[in-house]
Amino acid sequence: MSTPVAHQIADVRARVMEARARGLGIGLVPTMGALHEGHGRLIERARAENGFVVVTVFVNPIQFNDASDYTAYPRTLDDDVAFSAARGADLVFAPSMQEMYPTETHTFIEVAGVSEPMEGAFRPGHFRGVATVVAKLFNIVPADRAYFGEKDAQQLAVIRRMVEDLNFPITLVEVETVREPDGLAMSSRNRRLGAGERRDALALHEALEEARRHVEAGESAASSVKARAFAVFSRYPSVQPEYLEIVDPAGMQPVERISAPVRIAGAMRVGAVRLIDNVLATPPRSSS
Ligand code: PAF
Repeated sequence: MSTPVAHQIADVRARVMEARARGLGIGLVPTMGALHEGHGRLIERARAENGFVVVTVFVNPIQFNDASDYTAYPRTLDDDVAFSAARGADLVFAPSMQEMYPTETHTFIEVAGVSEPMEGAFRPGHFRGVATVVAKLFNIVPADRAYFGEKDAQQLAVIRRMVEDLNFPITLVEVETVREPDGLAMSSRNRRLGAGERRDALALHEALEEARRHVEAGESAASSVKARAFAVFSRYPSVQPEYLEIVDPAGMQPVERISAPVRIAGAMRVGAVRLIDNVLATPPRSSS
């Protein structure tokens, strides 16, 4: 089964308006391509909940604060179209850079607060680029629902805040992280890991799980939970942890005492590859 690919904004709009006119609900799955099983779940969920599903594939330059990361990002459009078709997408929107940014952009969306810690601190400008391109995609594809993965929990919190503050008429749907059998979160970046790096990439998952165990066992001082997690990283000399933070799940601000469900999020580098992941943890006798 093949899925049409639109490269022009006018084309995708016309097809979406036509689907709307037929009374179909529109589901949007924004991606940067290099699709894997994690994206597969987003598309399947969108397929189950909408009459017409659009997958977008665009490697957005303005969200990369590191030019070499942008250059190295995998680009696999033919495979992505076949993958989207197999999961039941109705349309792939794959615009060129010229189509998305025909002139120098003067308008950016900054989501204060939620975008500042963690990824915001380590990748300055990243969430400004994400919020801006997602707002553009929401305007280009007038969808009822948009699907995002829990693996990028801070990204989703930023988009949630933007949707609320700017009254975008769209429902955001969060889809659970998909993991390899050993626990590694699926990511487009995993395909850049060498064999030894693939083994060591597990450090992040193990550190997050160590932290989660301690939170769920009742340890309430964030600093000591974090120290236990960092001890896991020290067993993997080849990895460079960037941060491991314990935050409130909506506002993404670090907490000192854990008395309610928290998100534990981390980032590390293994070789040239940067990985992120997170888990939710609920302390015993949680106050919420
Ligand atoms: O999560 C991603 O793949 C990207 O950040 C997104 C949401 C498609 C924006 O470019």
